[in-house]
Amino acid sequence: APRDLMILIAFACCIFTWFFFLYPQILYIRVSWRDGTVPLPPQPHPACKSSGSFLQELSDLTHLLHWPPTPGDGGNLLSSTSPQTSTYHLRGPSQASYTLGGYLEAVLVARDHQGRPKTHGGDLFRAQLLSPYLKAGVPGDIRDLENGTYLLTFPLLWAGQVQVQVRLIHSSEAVGVLRGIWRDQWATVDFTGYFRGPTGHEEIVTCNVNPLLTGEEESTCHYRDEDTGELWFCARPPTLPCDSLVGHSSGHYWNHRLGYRPLVSPQQPCRPGIPGPRPSGFYHRAVWHSLSCSGRSFSTAASVLGCLAGRIVHMMGDSTLRQWWEYLRDTVPSLKPVDLHATYHTGPLMAVETTRDIVLHWRAHSWPLRSLRTPVASLHSVARELGGLAGGPHTVVVLGLGAHFTTFPPSVFVQRLAGIRAAVAALLAREPHTLVVIKLANTGYKSVYGSDWFTLQVNRLLRAAFADLRVAFVDAWEMTSSLGLPDRIHPGRLIVRNEVNVFLSFVCPT
Ligand SMILES: *[C@@H]1O[C@H](CO)[C@@H](O)[C@H](O)[C@H]1NC(C)=O
Repeated sequence: APRDLMILIAFACCIFTWFFFLYPQILYIRVSWRDGTVPLPPQPHPACKSSGSFLQELSDLTHLLHWPPTPGDGGNLLSSTSPQTSTYHLRGPSQASYTLGGYLEAVLVARDHQGRPKTHGGDLFRAQLLSPYLKAGVPGDIRDLENGTYLLTFPLLWAGQVQVQVRLIHSSEAVGVLRGIWRDQWATVDFTGYFRGPTGHEEIVTCNVNPLLTGEEESTCHYRDEDTGELWFCARPPTLPCDSLVGHSSGHYWNHRLGYRPLVSPQQPCRPGIPGPRPSGFYHRAVWHSLSCSGRSFSTAASVLGCLAGRIVHMMGDSTLRQWWEYLRDTVPSLKPVDLHATYHTGPLMAVETTRDIVLHWRAHSWPLRSLRTPVASLHSVARELGGLAGGPHTVVVLGLGAHFTTFPPSVFVQRLAGIRAAVAALLAREPHTLVVIKLANTGYKSVYGSDWFTLQVNRLLRAAFADLRVAFVDAWEMTSSLGLPDRIHPGRLIVRNEVNVFLSFVCPT
């Protein structure tokens, strides 16, 4: 009833409701338009500029991946952060009205299971400002003050009733366990390599990113990419030689338990290299609105075709990027998939539109891909593939890696990124009109093999790797953290559609 009353009062006004996920205490905040003022997007935070070379920067991984430490043994459930006892309050005095284009700030006080305030930071919260009935949402910024309190900031970007949702993804104690996995173990999964002799005789062994994970080092087959230095190791098969490796698949997940222990519309077209504000955008009426550039909507097959006409798109990455390929295949009837007789889950996949000269490739990134058995010869190094592209205005490259690297310490991904970064830099140097788009990893993992905390760290590496190159980012992390939808590592169609629209906005900015 109070809500209806407020709506009646609030002609040309908007109402914000406000509740904590677990504590439905509701405040009503009136938000007023200031006539004639166009709300401005939040000031871009300075982009993560790398001062020296990428490798130099990554030699300081500790700085890049900084996360407040978890003191103590972290094993006491009662002293870990609890969503039941943690609360928030508005930062300033509650105002009678809030201005569209302004911010809402709140202070979150983390408490343990006994209700005692936490005295250290390191909890992973995710906060969103939502209007479910408008299909609107935006991720909130969370600043860890490292004393048990967190500053939440939400930009006010549309008119309407809004809820705040705050979720505790991992307590700092759980992050401590995850951090320990990266620190103390070299992997949480392994892989299977299939060797075949001249008579068809097969031998099957364990493979991984580190020789110590496959057996004694002296009885290991080493595979090193001459160009990029990427490494891969398999246990030496009993009789067959190392160069008879023909097949690859995922192996085992090692046993772990995580147990206790209206809008703003920026005027500039979407171009690679533009600084990315945080958040990078928000949802309104199920449409993602970029805050860094004027995103476009490609709602018809004809508009997608018009944008992609004359282009060859090379997508390389994991299954969350394959979802883009599948979305385009499914929404543009004349874009026909061609059967390349490859393993579907690793590719290569290809779709073509011959009247508009469109070719759409997708292939999985190479090791350490978790997959069904697939020919090793089909697992191409991303860096090498990039090295084989002439590039130019007709070439679009989309990279979407991350989800298969959460099962190893960051150094494994860093090494891979170093090679890919060098290959992207070389591609852009030989053909500056090549468009390179980086899809960040999305949310959705909730285990020790993949966890949102690992993914968040992987995304920091991705951003750092490409920060000073003219590439475009599609922030799939934020796009999967803004609508209060259930977490899925493979996001639903609404989100994929918006990710593809952001991508196409970079291909066809005007
Ligand atoms: C936490 O740190 C912030 C910023 O330094 C400070 O304003 C606040 O009072 C501190 N809170 C507690 C409970 O110590």
